[in-house]
Amino acid sequence: MEQYVIKGGIPLVGEVEIGGAKNAALAILSAAIMTDETVTIDNLPNVRDINVLLDAIREIGAQVQRVDAHTVKINGSFIRDFNVDNEFIRKIRASYYLIGAMLGKYKKAEVALPGGCNIGSRPIDLHMKGFRALGATVDIEHGMLIASAERLKGTHIYLDKVSVGATINIMMAASMAEGKTIIENAAKEPHVVDVANFLNSMGANIRGAGTDVIRIVGVEKLHKTEYSVIPDQIEAGTFMFAAAATKGDIMLKNVIPKHLEATTAKLLEIGCEVEEFDDAVRVVASKPLHHTQVTTLPYPGFPTDMQPQMAVVLGIATGTSTVTESIFENRFKYVDELTRMGANIKVESNIAIINGVDRYTGARVNAPDLRAGAALVIAGLAAEGITVVDDIYYIERGYEDFEHKLSSLGALIEKVSTEKEIKKFTLKVS
Ligand code: UD1
Repeated sequence: MEQYVIKGGIPLVGEVEIGGAKNAALAILSAAIMTDETVTIDNLPNVRDINVLLDAIREIGAQVQRVDAHTVKINGSFIRDFNVDNEFIRKIRASYYLIGAMLGKYKKAEVALPGGCNIGSRPIDLHMKGFRALGATVDIEHGMLIASAERLKGTHIYLDKVSVGATINIMMAASMAEGKTIIENAAKEPHVVDVANFLNSMGANIRGAGTDVIRIVGVEKLHKTEYSVIPDQIEAGTFMFAAAATKGDIMLKNVIPKHLEATTAKLLEIGCEVEEFDDAVRVVASKPLHHTQVTTLPYPGFPTDMQPQMAVVLGIATGTSTVTESIFENRFKYVDELTRMGANIKVESNIAIINGVDRYTGARVNAPDLRAGAALVIAGLAAEGITVVDDIYYIERGYEDFEHKLSSLGALIEKVSTEKEIKKFTLKVS
């Protein structure tokens, strides 16, 4: 098992290049199999979840050619197998995008469902409701979601809850249904728009992505395209909070500042300076940080995927802050770990009440999930002394070259796998 070992207390200073959005890329790669022609996708993040999905796409028969670490060519004309199941795909939530893609193109799909998730129960009832409304039969049997249809017919779907996954999945299937589909109460996240743009570049007819009503006119066939994935707003936000926590000065390159507005607003509120450029953002934290209130909400609200990183920063800001998690019910697991680093946080139901402390102190902590893992790394970077973050497997699901990007900003961080290496690092930096 690998760990990050960190010597904290150094302000992060410099420039960092943000990669492509993992959550957009997962859906786009799935949608790429919907044509029999070759699709080229670039600005892919080279992270574990993406590689697991590419393996699954290869296993069902598609040709997957890795042009370089961030570019892939996919040809879906060779797909003969509509059953997606392996031990790795069962661990990634976004495997469900293959259902929408295969159901749209082949009118059948069998995909292993992910099990329980560390951030809470993750139902897929809305995805199923959408597929059924399009005319498919949908069942769960032996851990697989099985969907099939003679034909898919456009329809009017109201989503009871704003769901990124359900919006994208229904949009994919509806792209190749007969007639017009309207999705109401759709998610408006940047990656919903990115997937719609990608499908449109393949010949789909999708309008309104980015608003809460999406209109899709089904087409019979999709064609080849070349497409570049949008920058990752969550990776960017993570570095923005790392700048705040370490009293640093970071210029983030290859970002879309508009996508970062909720994060930027909160950083300004707590006392950071944020400068926006065309495709870059600079965060400077030269003044003391102070408390605020934040509630996670669907886009353009504050993203749930930034909640742990924000809480880590508020943990060392003056005064009492509250963080309300309104999307997932179990997203405060990292609080116990942070408490071990000296944080003063009490969780009541879905609200974390944070009394800011002067500083964190290094400790050995476990990454409970992807974003909370990244947040604990930020805490380690801000802390006095040595922090060891275990279970970094989770972090590698979504952050490419995390330790190298942080090192290039001056952080003292290494990926290690033995106690001996931890000792060696500790001696080296002390
Ligand atoms: C996606 C992101 C995840 C992010 C989340 C919210 C991917 C791969 N993951 O997850 O990182 O935290 O959006 O921005 O893109 N819900 C239902 N029934 C459903 C589907 C969802 O009740 O069928 C609920 C969920 O439990 C949750 C809320 O709707 O409370 C939002 O979930 P959703 O937007 O669907 O999240 P994901 O697409 O799974």
